[in-house]
Amino acid sequence: MKRSLVKYLLKTAPVGEEVLVKGWVRTRRGNKNVQFIALNDGSIVHHIQIVADMSIFSENDLKPITTGSCIEVSGKLVSSPGQEQPVEIQAKSIKLLGSADPETYPLQKKGHSLEFLREIAHLRPRTNTFGCILRLRHALSFAIHKYFNDHGFFYMHTPIITGSDCEGAGAMFRVTTLDLNNLPRTPDGQIDFSEDFFGKDTKLTVSGQLEGELGALALGAIYTFGPTFRAENSNTPRHLAEFWMIEPEVAFNDINDNMDLAEDFLKYLIRYVLENNIDDIKFLSNLYDKELIDRLNFVLDNPFVRLSYTEGIDILTRSGEKFEFPVFWGADLQAEHERYLVEKHFKRPVILTNYPKEIKAFYMKQNDDGKTVRAMDVLFPKIGEIIGGSEREDNYDKLKQRIEELQLPMKDLWWYLETRKFGSAPHSGFGLGFERLMLFVSGMSNIRDVIPFPRTPKNAEF
Ligand code: 4AD
Ligand code: MG
Repeated sequence: MKRSLVKYLLKTAPVGEEVLVKGWVRTRRGNKNVQFIALNDGSIVHHIQIVADMSIFSENDLKPITTGSCIEVSGKLVSSPGQEQPVEIQAKSIKLLGSADPETYPLQKKGHSLEFLREIAHLRPRTNTFGCILRLRHALSFAIHKYFNDHGFFYMHTPIITGSDCEGAGAMFRVTTLDLNNLPRTPDGQIDFSEDFFGKDTKLTVSGQLEGELGALALGAIYTFGPTFRAENSNTPRHLAEFWMIEPEVAFNDINDNMDLAEDFLKYLIRYVLENNIDDIKFLSNLYDKELIDRLNFVLDNPFVRLSYTEGIDILTRSGEKFEFPVFWGADLQAEHERYLVEKHFKRPVILTNYPKEIKAFYMKQNDDGKTVRAMDVLFPKIGEIIGGSEREDNYDKLKQRIEELQLPMKDLWWYLETRKFGSAPHSGFGLGFERLMLFVSGMSNIRDVIPFPRTPKNAEF
């Protein structure tokens, strides 16, 4: 007999059929006449109830069927007299596939703190919470590919190992095969990277954008979706050292087209999970964030506010609010400022544009005022910055001048600059942090709880 998914049995309820299910035991309870096993197979947040009539099974048969064990059950699907579930399985045979010692299995029935679950990240996929998180990650990933495919974008694979620093922030992980105990040196005492694997100094990428632009200037519209790495020592609920980023890049789009794309894309993704993963969202909402579903619908129903950085600074200075970090024209906005604009002032998602060029990356298109660049950050309630992007500088001379002003190494960027020499075109793009989006749709409040194996300062277990 072929195994049925619990999801299928609960949704279609083929009452009267003989079925086979396999999964992990969440609980077993009952008395000497009848025992009830709650079985979860990961296909859906809900468990299926297995009813074991103790005139067929012995105490000894059921003894090893403890929380966490893995079993295979065949029997007849019947309507359930209970309120909690539409159907249940009257077990005919129960086979133990893998036991879980009740003395040492850490996930007993009682709830566990999210902090504790991080320490057992190898087992936390077995919890209801992480089942929901993993299914949501899958659904969002699928929806991202679907959105772009349906809109004529091509998925482009940009390199993980790179010689160039896209964001210019200087917080990159080095990739090397040099012997750290015996480093080759140049005559002037520097590390001799010509002896390294790639014959040069290489890092893990912080963004696929620069290579993505090369694709957009050939295929018209591309997107990347891959892991990115930042070695910044940010121990916050919104930063990871390894996170996934989605970066569309579109030829002929200006900053306004870019904002339209970002808003449409985000709304599509939120709508997709509301339509396809409502069980997971409801479960997480009940446990962690009662306002989650209202917040998701609110974002869908309202246009994002669009305003300039300068207008944003005005609102913040006039707000009378006490901020930890000072507000002045030229200051980089902190999460507290972003959240004030979104949560207190506008009470809607906000797209801020035209930032001072000093606080943004070298590649952003310079405005005629000589002071600002065509940057855009999308700011979300509870999250702050969820997207960062811009129109790109497509003018060869201006881009070259900016690279020189910032003293960025031309030897690593010559190929990027060349695209502005041969068939340059206006183009724009942005980066969406996948885990920031996951925070928003799941209602979780720590980014470590929306990725299976978080990498943060001093933590790379599992
Ligand atoms: O704003 P960022 O640094 O922009 C870029 O990397 C551009 N190259 C993107 C582009 O234009 N193609 O990062 C983009 C997004 C942020 O808005 C945020 O959502 C997320 O990536 N992000 C992080 N997420 C988790 N942990 C971190 N340390 C993150 N840093 C950025
Ligand atoms: Mg940013």
